[in-house]
Amino acid sequence: MKGIVLAGGLGTRLLPMTRVTNKHLLPVYDRPMIYYPLQQLVHAGVRDILVVTGGDSAGDFLKLLRNGHDFGLEHLQYAYQEGEGGIAEALGLAEFFAAEEPVAVLLGDNVYQDALAPAIDAFRRDPTGAMILLKEVADPERFGVASVDGDRVVEIVEKPATPDTNLAVTGCYLFDPRVFDVIKTLTPSRRGELEITDVNNRYIEWGALRHHIVDGWWTDAGTVASLHRAADLVAAERDNPVLRDLAPA
Ligand code: G1P
Repeated sequence: MKGIVLAGGLGTRLLPMTRVTNKHLLPVYDRPMIYYPLQQLVHAGVRDILVVTGGDSAGDFLKLLRNGHDFGLEHLQYAYQEGEGGIAEALGLAEFFAAEEPVAVLLGDNVYQDALAPAIDAFRRDPTGAMILLKEVADPERFGVASVDGDRVVEIVEKPATPDTNLAVTGCYLFDPRVFDVIKTLTPSRRGELEITDVNNRYIEWGALRHHIVDGWWTDAGTVASLHRAADLVAAERDNPVLRDLAPA
């Protein structure tokens, strides 16, 4: 299992804080945002990790994370996304890194209270198809929204104006190597990006998308309100090893 943290994008919802830096380098309480998804992967026993970033601050990731030794890693890999082609395009840059292994993909602005290790382990045991993690939220229109029928995910709609459910698709995705073939067939959405939701809907068509419901709290940190919320939630979790066992300052 290989790990991929996606940390590109313009971070326009966090302007002006993102005018001179990358969103994922901003603090969530007392650590840079990207530490949280990295820590989750390390906690789940994923040792081979690629950080995909872009923009003018890409070099700052190297300065901050170096070779990953602060996380107990031997080394870290980096890829550079040119332009703003979306999450699925960024993931496509990881094809050679993945080298036909299954991948655990985390969005660099997602913070989870609970360990992702159980979901990642479940996919390790049966690494075919794809798996997504869902969470009931009060504001589903901000996310990809899933309709489920028992164990089956029926459809995912990206940021619907009138969501059919309150089940948000969170930013942790597990894929088999077919994901890279799917990405090559995508066309840009209305926001001009290759959407991860289109990738997941392809796995639904194949009857190959599993899902887990997240128990603990989950938040993104990509808007002013959610960044503030993320910091408050993290601050209250001083003894949580998936949040607090982070690299020394
Ligand atoms: C992305 C995905 C969306 C998902 C969200 C989770 O949205 O497109 O499906 O629910 O991450 O944070 P974005 O942050 O790119 O708007």
